Amino acid sequence: MLKFNKSVKSLAVIAAVSALALTGCGRADTGSSSNGTSAAAGFPQDSEIGVALPQKTSENWVLAESLFNDGLKTAGFKGNVQFANGGVSEQQNQISSMITKGAKVIIVGAIDGAQLGTQLKQAKDAGATIIAYDRLLLNTDNVDYYVAYDNYKVGQLQGQALLDGMKAKKPTGPYNVELFAGSPDDANAKVFFDGAMNVLQPKIDDGTLKVVSGQKSFEQAVTQGWKAENAQKRMDTLLTGNYTSKALDGVLSPNDTLARAILTSVKAAGKPTPIVTGQDSEVESVKSIMAGEQYSTINKDTRALVAHAIQMVKDLQAGKKPEVNDDKSYNNGNKVVPAFLLVPHIVTKANAAKEYANDPTLSALTK
Ligand code: BGC
Repeated sequence: MLKFNKSVKSLAVIAAVSALALTGCGRADTGSSSNGTSAAAGFPQDSEIGVALPQKTSENWVLAESLFNDGLKTAGFKGNVQFANGGVSEQQNQISSMITKGAKVIIVGAIDGAQLGTQLKQAKDAGATIIAYDRLLLNTDNVDYYVAYDNYKVGQLQGQALLDGMKAKKPTGPYNVELFAGSPDDANAKVFFDGAMNVLQPKIDDGTLKVVSGQKSFEQAVTQGWKAENAQKRMDTLLTGNYTSKALDGVLSPNDTLARAILTSVKAAGKPTPIVTGQDSEVESVKSIMAGEQYSTINKDTRALVAHAIQMVKDLQAGKKPEVNDDKSYNNGNKVVPAFLLVPHIVTKANAAKEYANDPTLSALTK
């Protein structure tokens, strides 16, 4: 049984983030990877393909479920798509059951990327290929590919949007801000935060930004389980403790669910609406942006991400090596995982109509 403690886990994430920083999120050319990952020899078209999704903590996961079900079916595979709303042990059991059913590929959106080592080893031993989906799998050799939007870039876009939004409202600082991060068990959360701090830290250092609570570290900013109620509670406490006589100009929020919780808290406190960032282009947040409440979100089209994951499965089925476009950035603590990274886009009220032009649901909200 592999054990992962917190410090090992955070070291791995730091390694991943440092690798990102060192390469400046550089894109490597597609090509053979040097880490021994090999293409499968191919397998029958009607094989079982497992998709292990985390909890339904944001709309993108719910969208992914039906896209995987439909896409795998259309491609001729037997898709087995599971959510693990009960938590890590449920996800471990689901992966074990996919192995028993002879899955040729297992796509994993992990709840906790460092807690699946035993199951991933069993899956590899049984001959399956493992694809980390959206969230990296940490501290294991047994992950073959990673497909995701560029998480560090997401953070940078959020940091920049926070600055731009505040400047548009009030041309000169200093600005009073608070910082929120995602769930510490999700490997993405630290990467988003570090991307944002890459833009914000210099502005904190030169006095343009004041984090009035003093809570600037990832550990202080985290939101356990990506839960709205946890963000709302923390915002309530921050407001009572620091903003009875001060204005709050902006809040860094890592996603839309938390952005709306933060706005609810601010509203309940009777404060004017600050600039609040987000991510995921959730329906309620796009409505809020169009109404002038939430300032920004990120467009990470789930359709494109699932399509790329399924393309990887098709390549593996045909005995081909899946295409990757980055074989430097994502060190999971054990190895650099060959990745296909998609490009995230910032969305504000100003560009929403253009950004969502090819999404019937979202574009209807921008009219
Ligand atoms: C995803 C985000 C999402 C968050 C909470 C992250 O791993 O990349 O898009 O908002 O999980 O579900």
